Amino acid sequence: MSEHTYKIIELVGSSKATIEEAVKNALSKASESLDKSRWFEVTEIRGAIENNDVAYWQVGVKLGFNTEGEQVKPGGAERIKKEPGGQTKRSGKYRCKVCGYIYDPEKGDPDNGIKPGTFFKDLPDDWKCPECGVNKDQFEEVG
Ligand SMILES: [Fe+2]
Repeated sequence: MSEHTYKIIELVGSSKATIEEAVKNALSKASESLDKSRWFEVTEIRGAIENNDVAYWQVGVKLGFNTEGEQVKPGGAERIKKEPGGQTKRSGKYRCKVCGYIYDPEKGDPDNGIKPGTFFKDLPDDWKCPECGVNKDQFEEVG
């Protein structure tokens, strides 16, 4: 008989269309860093109202992971954290709109003195895209 211990993380997905899609959005976000999810549980459902109609759905989801072996990649679960107001925090990656370079805070930009673990917002104002040399304001969050 196999017995499993599960690790649980909580996410909030949102969708303008349906509750199901909000759940799927949360799951697909999680699957970028965590690929061994076994089950989920909807913990909360709410919506925003605009013009007497549903503007979007917000669905809280608990995800259960099998913990045997190396299931959770380093930094995986920690990178997805709830922010006040229930928004799901993104991966923290930013893409250069000019050349497509992706800044990954897990890697930093060691060639230019940026240590791994440096958030995009903490990059110095004079930091430039290592590929094409444009300023930080030419980057958009990947998500
Ligand atoms: Fe660039």
